[in-house]
Amino acid sequence: MSLKNENTKYAFKIFRFDPDLDKAPRYDTFVKDCARGTTVLEALLSIQEIEDDSLAFRFSCRSAVCGSCGMLVNGAPVLACRTQLSNLIGDQVLIEPLPNMDVIKDLVVDMKPFWNAYRKVEPWLHADEEKEPKKERHQSPEQVHKLDPYINCILCASCYGSCPVLGMEEDYLGPAAIAKLFRFMEDSRDQRGETFLEKVDSPQGLWACHTIFRCIDACPKDLRPTDTIEALRRRLIKYRFKKFFRLVK
Ligand code: F3S
Repeated sequence: MSLKNENTKYAFKIFRFDPDLDKAPRYDTFVKDCARGTTVLEALLSIQEIEDDSLAFRFSCRSAVCGSCGMLVNGAPVLACRTQLSNLIGDQVLIEPLPNMDVIKDLVVDMKPFWNAYRKVEPWLHADEEKEPKKERHQSPEQVHKLDPYINCILCASCYGSCPVLGMEEDYLGPAAIAKLFRFMEDSRDQRGETFLEKVDSPQGLWACHTIFRCIDACPKDLRPTDTIEALRRRLIKYRFKKFFRLVK
């Protein structure tokens, strides 16, 4: 339980950068009294409304569902809407944009590389078009349950922003895209087959991961992307063996 008082004075040190106007990034500090229960997002909204309406950040649902407000708070990737100030250590709050993506303005990053990687794994159900069923493709409760952990991804890019490999290899698919591929390959209705793994059998695909586990720490929905990367690697190696011994085409 937090020992902080009902109202606490916080110093928010916020990353500021407008590439169209500024030569270099800077940090602005705003001091605010915040009631207990205030989230980082609420503090940002209050700063924007009262102190500086040019402060830019993304948000939408305010309830950890839309994945818009991913950012670094005191160096850790979090969703601003579900991070309460009283759960942070101290009264200095450093707020920065997610790494591994260019800054569009202040805390808003350009998520194009994230979405480009996501598209590469074709994140939709690959059904066998020639055998189009006359009714819904049913799944058993067990088959649905198997997918549950991976369906919870809200595409906030916290894992993408936290992965050190993406800081060195910008073409790496990244943990979110690979976890999504795993989700579809585990789906009993998906017909893409193991040949699809050839698309991610590259130094920028499954083999780029250094098993650093930061993506697991970063995920606000408790997904474990590293496990999916390891599982797909094992599956790919089996597939390669089968192909080598001509057990598959
Ligand atoms: Fe990056 Fe996660 Fe692998 S942090 S290196 S994708 S285990």
